[in-house]
Amino acid sequence: MGKLAITGGKPTRRRPFAPWPVYSRDEARGLEVVLRSRNWGGYPFPNSFASAFGRNFARFHGAKFGLAVANGTVAIEVALKVVGVQPGDEVIVPAYTWEGTVGPILLLNAIPVFVDIDPDTYCLDAALIDKALTEKTRAILPVHLAMRFADMDAIGEIARAHGVKVIEDCAHAHGGMWGKKGAGAIGDMGCFSFQSSKLMTSGEGGAVITSNQEYFERAQTYVNCGRASSTDKFKHRFIGFNYRITELQAAILESQLQRLVKQQEIRQANMDHFESRLRGTPGLGFLKRDRRQTRVAAYQYVFKYLPESFDGISRAAFLGALEMEGIPCDGLFYEPVYKSALFPLSPEEFPALSWGRPAPLDLKTMYHCPVSERAAYVESVWLPHHIFLGSRRDTNDIADGVLKVCENISELRGLKHPAIARKNMSRAERPRVERRQY
Ligand SMILES: Cc1ncc(COP(=O)(O)O)c(C=O)c1O
Repeated sequence: MGKLAITGGKPTRRRPFAPWPVYSRDEARGLEVVLRSRNWGGYPFPNSFASAFGRNFARFHGAKFGLAVANGTVAIEVALKVVGVQPGDEVIVPAYTWEGTVGPILLLNAIPVFVDIDPDTYCLDAALIDKALTEKTRAILPVHLAMRFADMDAIGEIARAHGVKVIEDCAHAHGGMWGKKGAGAIGDMGCFSFQSSKLMTSGEGGAVITSNQEYFERAQTYVNCGRASSTDKFKHRFIGFNYRITELQAAILESQLQRLVKQQEIRQANMDHFESRLRGTPGLGFLKRDRRQTRVAAYQYVFKYLPESFDGISRAAFLGALEMEGIPCDGLFYEPVYKSALFPLSPEEFPALSWGRPAPLDLKTMYHCPVSERAAYVESVWLPHHIFLGSRRDTNDIADGVLKVCENISELRGLKHPAIARKNMSRAERPRVERRQY
């Protein structure tokens, strides 16, 4: 019997952390108003709660217009369509992200071009974009990942110089700020997700924000089955789909938005404390915060476990042990999309991959992004945001758990345990074992 819970010792923590999602009488009141109104859907469009929420959400981030939609994946599709991505165009994306960033590019029969991430931020490495640009590049799609931003100033300059658009994937960045601008209001369009695990949630849901009225109205037409936009100022007529959000979701989101800043402050204070307890521990690494990032949105607290400093004991072993200490954690949260089992790309389904080429582009084998691969398979540790919404004691438990596993790492040598096996499972394999709602 060892000291670690995974080898029979006493766990650092037995009590659950703060529950997620958070709700109060405010959400219940909003839902009741919608229920009683019998006006539950997204049509007539844009409906009352959805309009008000879209406006408030955009304003909160410093954009002029906002449109709530069915989910974050759809939000990205809408933005790509709205800025004019056409079949055969190329869109630059970071390799290390959720498949939902990339799928919509293919759905429009355009081509994702994977670029590696910066090891200091885990976000798109702006210095590598130049090499990926071609005359077919139509947009750059940075993802604000792991509490950080890509160098949005550099990306803006590159985009202006080459006449391409910038679409921000802000699925992790509600309320984040770069300089004086909110996430999603830095580029041409910003896309958000309100899926269950996100910093604001209505179970499912999404939003696009922009300060360009024509883009906003094009988005309205696309998500409302091709109908004219509310002003019809631009006379857009093209095929659209039903990607509307419901009034029930929009009512919940309004209350979630009211709570966001307070939650962000609590989370940040706890994460700062957590980091101050961990800094200096040999074998742990930290992402860098750019001075231009004026407000952090931390969907997960992300740090690095460097197996080389722990005698080669794998991240999965570290995470399995940490989970057994009572601390929820993840490692294979994302994979480079081109390597993911959730990216079983078949070129026949996406004809643009073959256009003008003797053989279709094989996106699954043509890339090697070493920083993304190391983050995904070797070193990144992801701790869910809601465990930092509790007390200082809760946060100390998280830090105690991490430090305890580091100090007793030798107990993990050669250990086989189901908790370790689970930490080696990809997102594609997990539904078999996962009990969490998200
Ligand atoms: C980075 C990123 N992009 C896009 C999405 C897609 O959002 P949704 O799940 O709401 O479709 C997600 C959500 O998981 C995400 O994390």
